Amino acid sequence: MVSRRVIYIATSNMHKVEEIRSILRECGYNVEPIDAPKLELQGDLQKVALYAATVAYSVTGKPVIVEDAGLFIKALNGFPGPYSAYVYKTIGIDGILKLMHGIKDRRAYFYSVIALAHSSGVTLFEGKCNGSIVNEPRGSKGFGFDPIFMPEGSTKTFAEMEIEEKNIYSHRAQAARALCRWLEENCGI
Ligand code: IMP
Repeated sequence: MVSRRVIYIATSNMHKVEEIRSILRECGYNVEPIDAPKLELQGDLQKVALYAATVAYSVTGKPVIVEDAGLFIKALNGFPGPYSAYVYKTIGIDGILKLMHGIKDRRAYFYSVIALAHSSGVTLFEGKCNGSIVNEPRGSKGFGFDPIFMPEGSTKTFAEMEIEEKNIYSHRAQAARALCRWLEENCGI
């Protein structure tokens, strides 16, 4: 059996765990969720991820990642962006589709920041996925705004894709691949 090193992830979102796990497996790491203080933070993705990872490391003392992501819609001047979690909980997918009613420019992107807290500090990794907001929700896989986001280069929404296919395009997979490269260059942690 191949023994893998472990990186902990402070999140209760198992979709994020599975998506990142599937990438980090390629560089020999397993990803395990860990309990950390639940921080209700919103705002600048980099600052939120950095702060949450610092807190998680101070509690666990183990290499730990925190991922923070958001959906930025061009015609809405980047809304909901860093407030995506709150907007998803309040107006949700239907609310976003209402705001987009009649708008022709459907361009949007997802942005992901992974903060890795380790013994020598915190390192950030980022990923962006351009795409568009479809007119009607499609698909039942994934989470959050997946049913209304179609990445550039595909005719499917994220919610119509298995994790492996979403990972070809996604913001989170790009950030996780950057983390993999860093782990390889830095001989692990
Ligand atoms: P979080 O703060 O990183 O958990 O993410 C903020 C919100 O953005 C989540 O509640 C989701 O609604 C949305 N979101 C983030 N990443 C994704 C994704 O990969 N697919 C769909 N929605 C996402």
